[in-house]
Amino acid sequence: MSIKPYAIDRMISAKSIAARIEQLAVEIEAEFSNTDKLVVVGLLRGSFVFIADLVREINLPIEVDFLEVTSYGDSMESSREVRIIKDLRDTIESRDVLIVEDIVDTGHTMKNVTQHLLRRQPARLRTIALLDKPSRREVKIKTDFLGFEIPDEFVVGYGIDYAQRDRNLPYIGKVRFT
Ligand code: IMP
Ligand code: MG
Repeated sequence: MSIKPYAIDRMISAKSIAARIEQLAVEIEAEFSNTDKLVVVGLLRGSFVFIADLVREINLPIEVDFLEVTSYGDSMESSREVRIIKDLRDTIESRDVLIVEDIVDTGHTMKNVTQHLLRRQPARLRTIALLDKPSRREVKIKTDFLGFEIPDEFVVGYGIDYAQRDRNLPYIGKVRFT
């Protein structure tokens, strides 16, 4: 696809993200304080930076696994269909599970993934997203833990892409077409 020229305006600094993650880790430790082991499931690819920083703040026994679903392709339009293209490596039956997502937009991805994983009968399933655009929601869903609520802007950085670009920015920026 062709990419329109754009600039990136700073929105959430690396420092603010790090500070928020410290607080989120405290909430997660409280929720799962009695766990024997927490399976932290990152949704690829957007959550890879967030999950890396998050697990290093969580002071609990954990395992890390990854799930990849398709939602957007390379466009900015939301597809309602969610298809698993890389499944979890290990079973989550009777396990404590935390799903880690980069950003919740229409809510379809989180809703589908949650429903799908619940069928595998985990002991507890909780969700966390770094960002949430509640004004874009199409299905009723709320994450158990959330980094930041943001307005209806297309964002990049800290793992999040625009057509696979800008995942390596250390901060969250918003895309402005020029
Ligand atoms: P949802 O199914 O509409 O909630 O879409 C969630 C997915 O869309 C996220 O996991 C992101 O991959 C992608 N997405 C949503 N908003 C943005 C954005 O502002 N920038 C980049 N990707 C986004
Ligand atoms: Mg995603």
